[in-house]
Amino acid sequence: MKKEIKVVVTGAAGQIGYSLIPRLVDGNTFGNKTVNLSLVEIPQVVSKLEGLAMELEDSYFPNLGSINYTDNFSEASRDADWFLLVGSIPRGIVYNGKKIEERSDLLQINGGIFVEQGKAIGEFGNQNAKVLVVGNPANTNALIGRAAANNPSQNWMAMTMLDANRAKSMLAKKLTCNVSEIKKMIIWGNHSPTMYPDYENALLNNQSVSKLVNDEDWIDSKFIPSVQQRGKAVIDARGASSATSAAKAALDTVYACENETESGNCFSAAVYSDGAYDVPKGIMCGFPLMTTSSGEIEIVRDLNLSEKARSRLDVSIAELLSEKEAVKDLLTE
Ligand SMILES: NC(=O)c1ccc[n+]([C@@H]2O[C@H](COP(=O)([O-])OP(=O)(O)OC[C@H]3O[C@@H](n4cnc5c(N)ncnc54)[C@H](O)[C@@H]3O)[C@@H](O)[C@H]2O)c1
Repeated sequence: MKKEIKVVVTGAAGQIGYSLIPRLVDGNTFGNKTVNLSLVEIPQVVSKLEGLAMELEDSYFPNLGSINYTDNFSEASRDADWFLLVGSIPRGIVYNGKKIEERSDLLQINGGIFVEQGKAIGEFGNQNAKVLVVGNPANTNALIGRAAANNPSQNWMAMTMLDANRAKSMLAKKLTCNVSEIKKMIIWGNHSPTMYPDYENALLNNQSVSKLVNDEDWIDSKFIPSVQQRGKAVIDARGASSATSAAKAALDTVYACENETESGNCFSAAVYSDGAYDVPKGIMCGFPLMTTSSGEIEIVRDLNLSEKARSRLDVSIAELLSEKEAVKDLLTE
């Protein structure tokens, strides 16, 4: 078993980065391994990472290995095992003299970034590197990056764990249990308001959450829309997008990929569709996943989707297909 691991984080000077990076080296996420950090920012911001590096050194982390920071993604990528791609251009900012309002502009600009990063990961990352895209629009950014990497032995994912954690929290409150007791909480589709939090396959003490809640009205009018719109609710309340919960969800995803999934459970992330559950091939879609004892990340294929779930998932698939269409010039596979 490898004793050292190299982790690249982009957007390292951002809000999520500040919450995420210390916890990568705290001995929980990667267990006993020494974690070598390679932190990436845009040229205008990269010097700020000196301060973060100082704080990490001052924090007494026995598992902290080397810390490098750079604005050169290719250099950062060399022999990396994990890539946490958090950095992206948010909606509403002025980019090259133009205010970015439209989702199509956002897709194009971030897509361009992910072409370059994907190429570098494919060329310089480890053959079995794992890549988690957090920066939005996460699914389509991951699709673009994966195509540019053109390296099938690497594992590309987009984050939906935050949506799953939000769903677990709501269900645990409703059923008066601990969040950890809710199993098989799957987010299907896109990380966007079309996502589908699957309460029918979710379990509490091996019993269907759907049966235990037994309140379709609450599910349809409260649960599903609240999970779908929780990101906006946090922005409205905080004046900034979710950061510490997004960081925790990224750590939870890494942990889920690094450790065998307990029997009777699965975890949520979007991966490249191979046609499972009749999801069209060639989009990054939220699926139920498991990590095997040999460390492979696989789609769990034996769940049933009700008619309701299927029609909700189809809406999200249609959105993913239209996003794919909007960036087809960037899909270089
Ligand atoms: N998937 C999810 O569940 C989820 C949840 C919350 C936030 N997000 C997304 O995560 C992203 C980051 O959020 P944040 O709150 O940390 O934002 P932030 O604006 O605080 O930080 C983003 C950082 O990324 C950097 N950056 C931009 N382009 C880069 C590039 N090409 N290479 C390296 N760094 C780059 C910026 O300089 C900035 O420091 C946003 O896109 C946000 O929408 C996703």
